Amino acid sequence: MKAFLDHLILSHFRSHQRADLALDGRPVAFFGPNGAGKTNILEAVSLLSPGRGLRRASADDIARKPEALGWKIKAEIAGDLSHELETGAEPGHSRSLCIDGKPAPQTALARILRMVWLVPSQDRLWIEGAEGRRRFFDRMTMSFTPNHAEAVLAYDKAMRERNRLLKDMVRDAHWYDAIETQMADAAAKITQNRHAALARIAEAQDGAETAFPAADLTLIEAESGEALHAPADFATSFAANRSRDLAAGRTLIGPHRSDIAAIYAAKRAPAQQCSTGEQKALLISLILANARALKADTGTAPLVLLDEVAAHLDAARRAALFDEICALETQAWMTGTGPELFAELGDRAQHFSVTETGGRSTVAEVTP
Ligand SMILES: Nc1ncnc2c1ncn2[C@@H]1O[C@H](COP(=O)(O)OP(=O)(O)O)[C@@H](O)[C@H]1O
Ligand SMILES: [Mg+2]
Repeated sequence: MKAFLDHLILSHFRSHQRADLALDGRPVAFFGPNGAGKTNILEAVSLLSPGRGLRRASADDIARKPEALGWKIKAEIAGDLSHELETGAEPGHSRSLCIDGKPAPQTALARILRMVWLVPSQDRLWIEGAEGRRRFFDRMTMSFTPNHAEAVLAYDKAMRERNRLLKDMVRDAHWYDAIETQMADAAAKITQNRHAALARIAEAQDGAETAFPAADLTLIEAESGEALHAPADFATSFAANRSRDLAAGRTLIGPHRSDIAAIYAAKRAPAQQCSTGEQKALLISLILANARALKADTGTAPLVLLDEVAAHLDAARRAALFDEICALETQAWMTGTGPELFAELGDRAQHFSVTETGGRSTVAEVTP
């Protein structure tokens, strides 16, 4: 089974005034100099999943300058199910979405296309704050459990309401009870989904034939380190923390504060102490495990967006990555500066050259 984009049209999307790609389900490699517009294409694909895409950009940032007209992405999905997705924004408006010609909420995208990505800004994922790790892991979780996106939205919405009460120094318990019940329900779902994802990733790494190092992941929950699981646990704990949260003016415990720790399994070394290259290898390894697990669960591998990954690998590792991607039968989207980085793929992939002149990108398919 497969799900892939067979047609992608960008209009007024960053450096692409218009790009029109015809695809056949093989992995896609984009090469070209820095600033040519390669990451912009991956960003467009990432906007076919819920959220703000791989740059977390606002709709207005994306609109091609200097015109600042509305931008649009049109994608046709082929494979076992076919769908037409159209997303974009008019100037000053937020992003809108149509699925098969009908307006739809972004969360619906999670059920149509499963997608995971790795971008250079994640190179410091293990060293920097928990937020990036949470986002990385929640994306994995969403790939396994599409309704994770709704649970996260519901939790964030209720928490914002609670934080407003805390800021206004509201002390009346009645105001909190209802909101905390909603938060607790969502928190329990989020936690359950995350644990399920963790188990699937661990399973997919067990005994896998891969050139990339296994990572042992642990979910670090709440500040006290105690694991909460049932809605009632969360509700009790939110109520018990009210006075502390009032002093802080925000909610201090809950799944929005969880973190993910990784151990480089073969060395028993925490990821943050590994070399830059090892940290990157761990991330690639997790993305591949994610894709294998999804393929085992659903029969379909997710789209895998790998921005500037090839350049960081030696030739042997790169060849191994390509072999693993081809074995997964996923439409991987990859970028790199030169065509030689993708030569090993040969006709197992589609190759596109991306160039830029006068602030306008041109994308052209080439034969390797
Ligand atoms: N809103 C925009 N309008 C026009 N050009 C943009 C916009 N946003 C980014 N760019 C241009 O896109 C180029 C970067 O594209 P990118 O895809 O990141 O390059 P790369 O090929 O190195 O991945 C830069 O030259 C930048 O000026
Ligand atoms: Mg780039």
